[in-house]
Amino acid sequence: MNLIESLLSPAGRADPFPLYAEAHRLGPVLPIADTVFVIVGYAAVNEVLRNPGFGIRTDPSSQPALELMQRSILRANPPDHGRMRSLISQVFTPRRVAALQPAIESAVDDLLDGLPAEVDFMDRFAFQLPVTVICELLGVPTSERDRFRPLASDLTAALELTDSSDEAADAAARELGEYFVRLIRDPAPDSLVSALLAARDAGDGRLSDEELLANLILLLVAGFETTTDLLGNGLAILLDQPELGSDPAAFVEEVLRYDSPVQVTTRIARADGLSAGGIPMPAGSDLILLLGAANRDPVRFPQPDRFDPARADNKPLSFGAGAHICLGNSLARLEAKVAFARLLDRFPTISAAGPATRRDRLVLRGYQTLPVRLSSAECSGSGGTGSQDRTSA
Ligand code: HEM
Repeated sequence: MNLIESLLSPAGRADPFPLYAEAHRLGPVLPIADTVFVIVGYAAVNEVLRNPGFGIRTDPSSQPALELMQRSILRANPPDHGRMRSLISQVFTPRRVAALQPAIESAVDDLLDGLPAEVDFMDRFAFQLPVTVICELLGVPTSERDRFRPLASDLTAALELTDSSDEAADAAARELGEYFVRLIRDPAPDSLVSALLAARDAGDGRLSDEELLANLILLLVAGFETTTDLLGNGLAILLDQPELGSDPAAFVEEVLRYDSPVQVTTRIARADGLSAGGIPMPAGSDLILLLGAANRDPVRFPQPDRFDPARADNKPLSFGAGAHICLGNSLARLEAKVAFARLLDRFPTISAAGPATRRDRLVLRGYQTLPVRLSSAECSGSGGTGSQDRTSA
């Protein structure tokens, strides 16, 4: 079994980290077939992501879910990528994200108000917060939000490295497509959708109707599945090591490094004469970039398997790097920072209330369920059983 086959096995999906450690002992770039390379070293992954010679494989797909993704910015190469990216960044600005902070804070507080003492954290918080925020941004009414969870999950299954055609993913692509066609016809004022429509109509860098649709669906899906996983992965870490530390942003950064919601991305060598980690990459080569492994590279991160929010110079590759670096990274960071700070403020003691289950995925890594018991400030120290006391630095 090569590294990728091992990672895709049930044991590899459940815990890829021992396999990453083994891979690092072999080197930063591992060939697994004539023109297929797995890139595991931090420096090599970073180099590939930042080198415009490497791009996205754009084979047309007959599978509707993949075809939809192919039309989005995530799967575009120059010049289309730059055209779409500049248009979207024109409306999805740091200012728009910063302006969401009060809405994020009140969404977090509302969710915390409604939590029972024993709860599935994924269902009642980790999913709810990002979906609320992204729907607020896109101007999707509250009543529609719950239906997006299974749809997003079905759609992103198409991003896994296995290439089985997936009817659920295609059905999700169709349903989301129909929903967004209606939303584009009647967008909420001041929403990202109306801003994007206005930017498209005002500028010369036009976006086709199909591209507009694909990018809105991408924003919806990328906007909450990954952030849901970041919240869940972070909470699971807190159950083992109950210290947020004095800086929630540093804690979030270390969660991103230690248990990245996106473990894998791919590239193709689009020119001759390219190399990665000093190894030649013939034109047309496929590269599998293990972001999760790069984040555990012992050359870049001393004691990589140790969770340490105080780590110096902590710059994980969880949001990618270079031209495709995640457009939503500051939004995801803001949501997680606000969420963990307020959650622990309200519930200083959080303990497991049963076994957690992982989503059975390699590329998008997160929990399906995460049952926890929450004790508020007033109750903690009152002798509750089975819970650890949390001491914040
Ligand atoms: C913890 C949460 C998140 C993680 C770990 C994450 C991760 C990533 C990664 C790794 C990429 C680059 C993929 C590649 O280079 O092949 C990416 C791209 C992207 N992300 Fe995120 N993301 C997160 C949250 C968000 C949010 C909240 C949004 C939007 C609201 C978003 C929107 C996007 C978009 C539009 C792209 C495509 C950018 C491009 O291709 O130029 N992401 N994300």
